Order: sequence, then C-alpha cells, then structure tokens
Amino acid sequence: MSDTSSRAKKTKANPMWGGRFGVAPDAIMQKINASIDVDKRLYAEDIAGSKAHARMLAKAKILTAKDAAKIVEGLDKVRVEIETGRFTFKTELEDIHMNVESRLAEIIGEPAKRLHTGRSRNDQVATDFRLWVRGACDRAELALREFQRALLDKAQAHAGTIMPGFTHLQPAQPVTFGHHLMAYVEMAGRDRGRFADARRRMNESPLGAAALAGTSFPIDRHFTAEALGFDRPTANSLDSVSDRDFALEFLSAAAIASMHLSRLAEELVIWCGPQFGFVRLSDAWSTGSSIMPQKRNPDAAELVRATSGRMIGSLIGLFTVMKGLPLTYSKDMQEDKARSFAAADALMLSIAAMTGMIDDLAINEARMKASASAGYTTATDLADWLVRELGMPFREAHHVTGRIVRRAEELGIDISELALADMQAVEKRIDKRVFKVLGVENSVASRTSFGGTAPANVRKAVTAARKRYL
Ligand code: ARG
Repeated sequence: MSDTSSRAKKTKANPMWGGRFGVAPDAIMQKINASIDVDKRLYAEDIAGSKAHARMLAKAKILTAKDAAKIVEGLDKVRVEIETGRFTFKTELEDIHMNVESRLAEIIGEPAKRLHTGRSRNDQVATDFRLWVRGACDRAELALREFQRALLDKAQAHAGTIMPGFTHLQPAQPVTFGHHLMAYVEMAGRDRGRFADARRRMNESPLGAAALAGTSFPIDRHFTAEALGFDRPTANSLDSVSDRDFALEFLSAAAIASMHLSRLAEELVIWCGPQFGFVRLSDAWSTGSSIMPQKRNPDAAELVRATSGRMIGSLIGLFTVMKGLPLTYSKDMQEDKARSFAAADALMLSIAAMTGMIDDLAINEARMKASASAGYTTATDLADWLVRELGMPFREAHHVTGRIVRRAEELGIDISELALADMQAVEKRIDKRVFKVLGVENSVASRTSFGGTAPANVRKAVTAARKRYL
C-alpha cells in the first residue's frame, strides 16, 4: 500500500457522494479527479442554473416554496462571496457544482440538500458549460464587430490609397489599401456568422436530463429552459449529457477567426519592416530590443500570428477527447473546459490587439504607391486595352504585352514611361490613348466591376458594410 493512500485513509469519505465509501479517495485520486481550479469559472452559470432548477422544483411542488426561496437567497449569497473573494474553493469537493452546493448547505442548512432532486452533475455541467460557451460566442461576436469598425474606419480613410496587390507575395496588380482592409471586413463578417450559427444551434437546455435517462420527478424542463434563455429543452436525455459538439463548434469558429487574424498579423509584420515600410505601428503597439536601440518590433502582431496555433490545438485537442467516446457521460469530458477557456481567452486578446493595432496604424502612402508601380503591375491593363481597343484575342495581347514589358525592363523604366514609338515597335496599331490606362491610378480607377478595387467602389462597399455589420 502506498504512502499516500494510508494517509488518505485517515480522512473522511467524500461528503457529497461518499455514502458507500469507507475511506476518502487517495490524495493522487483527488488531484487527478478535481476540476475546481478550471471550472470555478463556471460559478455564475452554475448558480443561475441552480436558481432556475430550485424555482422549477417549487413550481412543480417537488420542493416547498419556502425551501426554494431559501435556496435562491442562499445561492445569491454564495455568488457574492465568490465575487468578493471571500469564498474558499476546496479541492476535496472536486468541482464548482459541489463547492457551491456544499457552501449553500453551510449557509442555509437542510433545504440545500433538496436542491439536487431530479438532476445530476451530468446535466448540470452540460448546462453550465453550454451557458458559458453561449456567452463566449456573444463576446467573440461583439469583439469582431468592433474589429470591423476599426477596419472600416481605416478603409474609408484609405479608399483611394494605392498599394501593390500581391499573389505569391509578388506584386500582381495595383489595388487600394482600403480594398485590402475590406477583405478582412468580409472575413470577420463570416466569422461572426459562424459564432451566431453555433450559438443558435447550441441554445437548447440539457437541464433535467439528469444523470442520463431523465427523471421520475414531474419536472418542467420547458420552465428551466426559458428561465436560462434557452430556446427549448434538448430532446434526448442521453444526447443532452454526452454532447460536446457545441464546444467543438465554438472552437472551430474560434480557430477560423484566429486564422484570419493571423494572416493580417503576418501582413503587418511584413509591411512594417523597413524593406516594405508601408505602415508604421504606433509606439503603443511596438516593442524595443534590449540590445539594438534602433529596433521597433511588432511583437503583438507576431503573437496574434502564433496564438492561432494554440487555438487550432484546442480544437484538435477536444476532438481527440471526444472521438470514440461511448455514450453517455465519461469523465474524459471534464477535459473540455480548460482548452475552451484558453481558446476563448486567446481569441478575445487577439481580436482586441488587432483592433488596437489597426486603429493606431499609420500608413506611408507615398511608399505604398511607389511600390505599386514597381514590377510592371499595370501590364494586365495594357493587355486589356489591346483586347478592348484593337479587338486582339487576349492570348495574343498577353504575348504582345510581355514583349513591351521586356522592352521597358531593358530601359529600366515603367511601361507608362515608354515612348509611344517603343510600344509601336512591338504593335504598330497602339496609339496615344493607351496612356489613359497605364499608371497605377488609372489602373485602380478602371476596376469598377462589382467587388473590384476602384476607389469609388471601395467607398460604396464601406457604406454598405457599415449598414450591414455595425
Ligand atoms: N466536473 C465534472 C465535469 O466537468 C462534472 C460532472 C461530473 N459527473 C460525474 N458523473 N462525475 O465533467
């Protein structure tokens, strides 16, 4: 017999479920079993769920109105104790559910022992956790809305600011900075949609499923569902206590949103370096180096970029816990909370950091524009002109343009700086009207197709997005 178990023998059995046990759990057993350090974050949801349950029990005449009132009052006291830091969380009481109930019994005595009628910790934890994840969806959605607001403000200010658009991180065609930011407004809009969809689907109350099979007490699950803001009770008691796909949906929405944030973070990292010099992060969003005095490091952006990995990890982690678990509840599922809380915290911090960085971002318009002109980014405009004005097949126009680009390259200038004669040497039908489409300003202004980068389009898109999202 190990040392720890002989020590454990001296203590009493668990007061909440120890009836059939002679001795207390081994100290290591308690340690591996306890979740209070993590699930104490569910205290508000646990108390709300218990209050709704107590009121329902009274309404169904399973409890006296007097007992229910004492329970509700006592639970409010427990809540105040927790919120004012006067509550002692006990590992031997395992989790938040038993910590709250046990303290309630100390405060109000006998009626507290009637609270657990017609329910189990299995439906209790499913309810608490759902309420918490539902709140996390709402918080994420709200934060993403604020992020969209920051993007929209910047996009409006820079609807006409020209920058190179990239494919393969090579200069492709000129776009406007406002247009680029609006791409992230769209991503954030879909991210919000994912949280809203997940919330809608998870908004059913598992409370009253009891351990797994339902209960013989005449409980009213519709009452508790309504009291807790759920749309309806869940339909199947087995599913109610074993489902965690609501958390998986939250985590996948979080992972996708964080992946989007990581892409913008990466762009900020690239753009703020002296080689690009497109943007400057404010002092408030930069850090210095302890050895190199000239440095301004984009640490926050780098961390947002990296944090996305943690969120994807949380998703995969919970998938791995749930995969292959037989119905219904298994203690494995206690592992759902730590990673969901961690992902939610990381997501909120990432969104807030990106919102702050975007709000404070200074743009070097001259630098962006100069870079947009480099690399023959208006070659497509020339090819399109040959098609439109000369009736040339696009493949042939592509070839002709390639030869003109090669000539400009030989002379070390942009195609808009070529003499007409140089172009006519390649294609004699080209005339001076061609200069109207060359140059980055002409190029972006001409991209007026729906969803295109023309400044006029971007201004309209900003107005439409404000209406739709804010
Ligand atoms: N702390 C547990 C959890 O988070 C609560 C449910 C425990 N239920 C049980 N039958 N042991 O999953």
